[in-house]
Formats: sequence, C-alpha cells, structure tokens
Amino acid sequence: MTTAKSNIDSLVVALDVPTAQEAISLARRLQGRVGMFKIGLELFCAQGPAFIREIQAFAPVFLDLKLHDIPTTVHRALEALLPLDPALIDIHTQGGPAMIEAAAEAVRAHRQRGGRTQLLGVTVLTSLDREALTRLGLATDPGDMALHLARLAKECGCDGVVCSAQEAASVRDACGEAFHRLTPGIRPRGGAVQDQARVVSPSQALRNGSTWLVVGRPITRAEDPAAAADAILAEMAEA
Ligand code: C5P
Repeated sequence: MTTAKSNIDSLVVALDVPTAQEAISLARRLQGRVGMFKIGLELFCAQGPAFIREIQAFAPVFLDLKLHDIPTTVHRALEALLPLDPALIDIHTQGGPAMIEAAAEAVRAHRQRGGRTQLLGVTVLTSLDREALTRLGLATDPGDMALHLARLAKECGCDGVVCSAQEAASVRDACGEAFHRLTPGIRPRGGAVQDQARVVSPSQALRNGSTWLVVGRPITRAEDPAAAADAILAEMAEA
C-alpha cells in the first residue's frame, strides 16, 4: 500500500506502555507509518527525560505532560524540558492567561535558539462532562468551554490546542487553519471504544479539521500494530 505522506504525518501514536522495552519495540514496528509518538506521564515518570531521545530515533515526539502550575514554575519546567526539542509539548489552558503566556515565552525563546517545538494548550479534558464541570463550579457546556479556551490559547501565544475531534471544526473556524487541532478519542471502524466517551472515526476527524489524530490502544494493543496502523491510514485516505 502506498500512503500519502500527509496522512502519515497526521498520525500520532500514544505510547501508553509502562516499560522502555515495550515502547521501543512498538516504535520499531511502527517506524515509517507514524508521524509522531506521544509520550505521556506514565512513560515519562517511569523512564525519565533521557528516554525521550531513544524514541526520537524512530520519529518526532509529542511530550504530553499537560503542565499546570503558577507561571514561573511552568516557564522553568519548560526551560528544563525544551533542550529535548520535542516536536510538540502541552500545558493546561486552565492555568490561566499569565501561565499560557509564560509557557509561550519559553517556547519562543527555544525556537529563537533553533528549536522546533510547538506549544499546544489542553482545552477541556474529554473525561470531563457537563456534570463534572458543574461540580467544579463551572456551569458551562464542555464544547463551549473548549472553544472559549482555544481562543484564549491563541491570544496568549499557543500554536494550537488539544481538543475533541467533535470540536475541531469550530476551533478551526474561530482560530484559523494555521492554529493546530490535535485530537484524541479516535476509533477505527468496528474498533472497541474502551473508556473514551466521545469517539470519532479517522476519516471524520480529518474532515472535521483535525491536524493530528492521536491513536493509542487501537494500535498499541493490536496483535499486529503495524497492520492496525495501516488500516487506520487507509481510513484516513477516505477523507
Ligand atoms: O488508547 P486511546 O486511543 O484512547 O489513547 C488516547 C490517548 O490520548 C491517551 O494517551 C490519552 O491519555 C490521551 N488523551 C485523551 N483525551 C484527552 C487528552 C489526551 O484521550 N482529552
């Protein structure tokens, strides 16, 4: 099968596994079929920063640590992480405008030194529904809140947001094509939904305007992860 390079570039595989050995084995099997590997808290906490470089030997890395603290702390944490030069790194937009601006400032300085990292803001976690937001004292619709936070992220210097693929089109309309949408909760046709609540198919996510599709278990837990990635790329090609 020949696959468009742009679809491969848009596919981000979440390496949600506990050991370095499992992560490297997956990275080796998926190399060339995937635009980026996502390393989240589980693997980062277990393996530490130096491990990022081992995965970068296979593909660029999205360092998904969702930083959320006072502006100075986030700025300093980013200064410590950015020498790893991940392709993407993220913060929680709910840390507020000053925190987002401090993060954007650290990323800008890194790029001025020749780095290539882009900064994403997490809008509303897909695990939070309206009831959970109400219990947090935020009586609002998760979709409306995500759009509001996407506008704030853009205003404060982010390069894009993490959002549901169901919100990607409205974020693109509000913030413009160049402001990226990275969307988890992607499920191929006939795939198990697992604990994701609002899932979108690979082709629909692209039609909705997702820049990057994050796929974890449908690939990483498949008997043949490379074949599962190929099947998802084929679905993306239908968009
Ligand atoms: O296995 P699955 O495809 O559900 O993995 C999706 C990945 O995206 C996981 O690493 C999960 O933590 C992450 N994620 C998510 N929803 C968000 C943000 C990140 O599912 N809102």
